[in-house]
Amino acid sequence: MIRLLVTALVLLIATTAMAEKHFAAERDRMIQAVEAMARTVPSRDTEIDPAVLAALREVPRHELVPENVRRDAYQNHPLSIGHGQTISQPYIVALMTTLARPAKHHVVLEVGTGSGYQSAVLSRLVARVYSIEIVEPLAQEAAAKLKGLGYDNVFVRAGDGYKGWPEHAPFDAILVTAAANHVPAPLIEQLKPGGRLVIPVGATSMSQNLLVVEKDEQKKAHTRAVIPVRFVPLTGEAEGRAPAR
Ligand SMILES: C[S@@+](CC[C@H](N)C(=O)[O-])C[C@H]1O[C@@H](n2cnc3c(N)ncnc32)[C@H](O)[C@@H]1O
Repeated sequence: MIRLLVTALVLLIATTAMAEKHFAAERDRMIQAVEAMARTVPSRDTEIDPAVLAALREVPRHELVPENVRRDAYQNHPLSIGHGQTISQPYIVALMTTLARPAKHHVVLEVGTGSGYQSAVLSRLVARVYSIEIVEPLAQEAAAKLKGLGYDNVFVRAGDGYKGWPEHAPFDAILVTAAANHVPAPLIEQLKPGGRLVIPVGATSMSQNLLVVEKDEQKKAHTRAVIPVRFVPLTGEAEGRAPAR
């Protein structure tokens, strides 16, 4: 009986080690795909920070996606995570993270936790990540998985991120991973002077522009468009508001 149990344990350890090796190789391929994609959009704004690539290499994306898409976790495209939502394409995660210019002492807000992957990547690069998700089961699942994986500097709450998370503001950077037809004013307010907000903004559900809003030391916001993107909509309060004129 004991011999049987030991054999089963050894088999389990060997299978887990093989799976981890497989996913590590898949992660390497994903990094290569992200680098290749960055080369196809040559502009200084779309280069990916090597520190961000190192963070992508560390985060087990396969542990954060649902079981039914785990096989494809490291493909360079978005995947369904249920509830009509998606985990973003790795290149877009890398680009948005780079555009946020993360630093070790930074406190960052993410609106749209989804699977928790973007938060996990950020957590490797900054001091603390606050993340808000409007779909409660997704928030709960992401929080539990992030905790289980040891991402202790990520704090998730369920709710509408339109008004940010004022209790932890101001933020060095804010990433919004769902698209609105305007930049939510409360998010600009919650940026530190010198901070950056990265957000997809567009009038249609088909295509938006990825914007970087930089707040200067005089608290004036400067906006520029980086590349066209396609995100799921920012729901909740954002939907009922018209763009500012
Ligand atoms: C493209 S997915 C985000 C992917 C996520 N960052 C990840 O790494 O998996 C966009 C997410 O934003 C969420 N969302 C949409 N509107 C929101 C809002 N007003 N406040 C918070 N989350 C919102 C959606 O439910 C969805 O999970």
